[in-house]
Amino acid sequence: MLQLRLPKNARPQEGKTFPAAEGAKRTKTLRIYRWDPDSGDNPRVDRYVIDLDDCGPMLLDAINKVKNEIDPTVTYRRSCREGICGSCAMNIDGKNALACTTALDALDDDVTVFPLPHLPVVKDLVPDMSGFYEQYASIKPWLRNEAVPVEEGERLQSHDEREKLDGLYECILCACCQTSCPSYWWNGDKYLGPAILLQAYRWLADSRDGDTDARLDELDDAYKLYRCHTILSCTSACPKGLNPGLAIAETKKMLLERRGR
Ligand code: SF4
Ligand code: F3S
Ligand code: FES
Repeated sequence: MLQLRLPKNARPQEGKTFPAAEGAKRTKTLRIYRWDPDSGDNPRVDRYVIDLDDCGPMLLDAINKVKNEIDPTVTYRRSCREGICGSCAMNIDGKNALACTTALDALDDDVTVFPLPHLPVVKDLVPDMSGFYEQYASIKPWLRNEAVPVEEGERLQSHDEREKLDGLYECILCACCQTSCPSYWWNGDKYLGPAILLQAYRWLADSRDGDTDARLDELDDAYKLYRCHTILSCTSACPKGLNPGLAIAETKKMLLERRGR
């Protein structure tokens, strides 16, 4: 399991403790990272003790309970609450995951919740994803096939061609893999990272796309692609069970094969 390790002097201070409601018998403590860059205050970790008998089963339920009933200033993203939108990605006890698909039962009595690592923090658990989305836009993630216009109907695929997209189209762009990759931590401005490279391969693998050579030209770069050193923490972090490490290896293979043609 990938652990988030901060330098000692960067550890946030312990903040306030909010005790459980009176009479609570089964409790869990959420240690939540708190920081408002506009406030001028240092980051801190506040402790919220949750009554498990009055809470839903998932970590997101517990964080919602904190926000709705204990401390409305806690800031985080969430939407679908069923592992589809990717917005509740955070670092939970040292591992990147989705809060809405993480069961409270599977966590220790003290749970530490930080924002996704190595991204600027907007506030509390909300990372700044704008660089991530710019990198996504840079691969032009849409069907590029102007050379073969559709005269009528749709572009068809065989079952075998369609199956090549399995394990790729399911990506929800949560960035759990991206922010667990040490290579991305050090070169996030130039290396595209596992999520974006998986998305790039999704179009390389699509039989309907007609821009394979141009896409490979765009990726054939010492930083954009080749900063992947097959560390594979991306693959172990993906909450959807996808394998960005394999998608990157397939992309490198396509480039090698093209050179040999
Ligand atoms: Fe999230 Fe997995 Fe997509 Fe990475 S590959 S962005 S971890 S769904
Ligand atoms: Fe990083 Fe995954 Fe490559 S962790 S180095 S993108 S295999
Ligand atoms: Fe949508 Fe968790 S709230 S993935």
